Amino acid sequence: MMSAQQMMKVFVTRRIPQEGMKILQKAGMCNLSVWDSDEPVPRAELLKGVAGAHGILCLLSDKIDTEVLDAAGPNLKVISTLSVGFDHLAIDEIKKRGIRVGYTPDVLTDATAELTVALLLATARRLPEGVEEVKNGGWSTWKPLWLCGYGLSGSTVGVIGLGRIGLAIARRLKPFGVKRLLYTGRQPKPQAQEVDGEYVPLDTLLSESDFVVVSCSLTPDTQGLCDKTFFSKMKKTSIFINTSRGAVVNQEDLFEALSSGQIAAAGLDVTTPEPLPTDHPLLTLKNCVVLPHIGSATYSTRGVMSALTANNLLAGLTGSEMPSELKL
Ligand code: NDP
Ligand code: DGY
Repeated sequence: MMSAQQMMKVFVTRRIPQEGMKILQKAGMCNLSVWDSDEPVPRAELLKGVAGAHGILCLLSDKIDTEVLDAAGPNLKVISTLSVGFDHLAIDEIKKRGIRVGYTPDVLTDATAELTVALLLATARRLPEGVEEVKNGGWSTWKPLWLCGYGLSGSTVGVIGLGRIGLAIARRLKPFGVKRLLYTGRQPKPQAQEVDGEYVPLDTLLSESDFVVVSCSLTPDTQGLCDKTFFSKMKKTSIFINTSRGAVVNQEDLFEALSSGQIAAAGLDVTTPEPLPTDHPLLTLKNCVVLPHIGSATYSTRGVMSALTANNLLAGLTGSEMPSELKL
């Protein structure tokens, strides 16, 4: 057992699934301080909470920038985020300070790909509209021209960012009868063979796809990638799906593309900001389906993510190999 002085100070920025908390408690080496709420820690409390910390366990909603790193001070050895995305971390500054970063790749790939397929089908086949019509009495009879949408069979799907999740989405979509699977990225991927993926320039993907699925990471290159020009290259009958990060999309331009009929519909699991204000123009559109960032939200996935995040943190504190370390 460690003495009180030897205990490592750890700040956990939110209530997390018990799988992770149990691991941290059992380790017997952490002086744990938890923002014990389902709501985000206010910035002032975050800055106070991290003071002198050896480790920070954070979420994608916590911006870990120079101010937070300064507030933590020189003890800080590790930041472990309960996410695969790391665009909320000031990576250059973290690297400069020699701090290690843990994250949660792979364990959420299946859940996120599954949700992406669900969102795509819900958007293309107009499920939320249909459910609403059943409830509000709009369903008068079976009508040949009513609530028609778009199907995957014989279609062309374009995936922007064929990474872990992008490939898992492609794998799941192919059996629906997708005819061509196009993808873009920084370079062709050998693993694309598995889904007969064709590496094409972005413009080709946009003009030929019936479904455009965004699954890239948010970087300076992808920020605002889906803008007016982007949507203007898509077919009028095409469906846009984004489960990566909200900032990849220019939402004013998306609103314009959806309301003018430039594209058929959009399904978003991620927005800017999150939550999207309830009076946001996108929420007035029937052809826009918005979900509250639930890509990885299955009980088991969140439990595994929590455990992995805790184990990454402990490895960072003890200077040992992390199960999933972000290579800086
Ligand atoms: P990966 O790193 O495996 O995949 C990211 C992909 O983005 C890579 O293939 C990468 O290509 C590609 N990419 C990077 N820059 C560009 C660019 N300029 N143009 C096109 N593609 C680009 O990560 P994951 O698949 O595990 O996760 C992807 C993202 O999904 C996360 O970063 C996160 O933001 C989001 N996510 C959202 C969830 C949700 O709940 N909605 C759940 C989980 C993740 P390359 O390999 O060539 O660099
Ligand atoms: C991530 O991990 O980056 C997702 O957005 C949430 O699981």
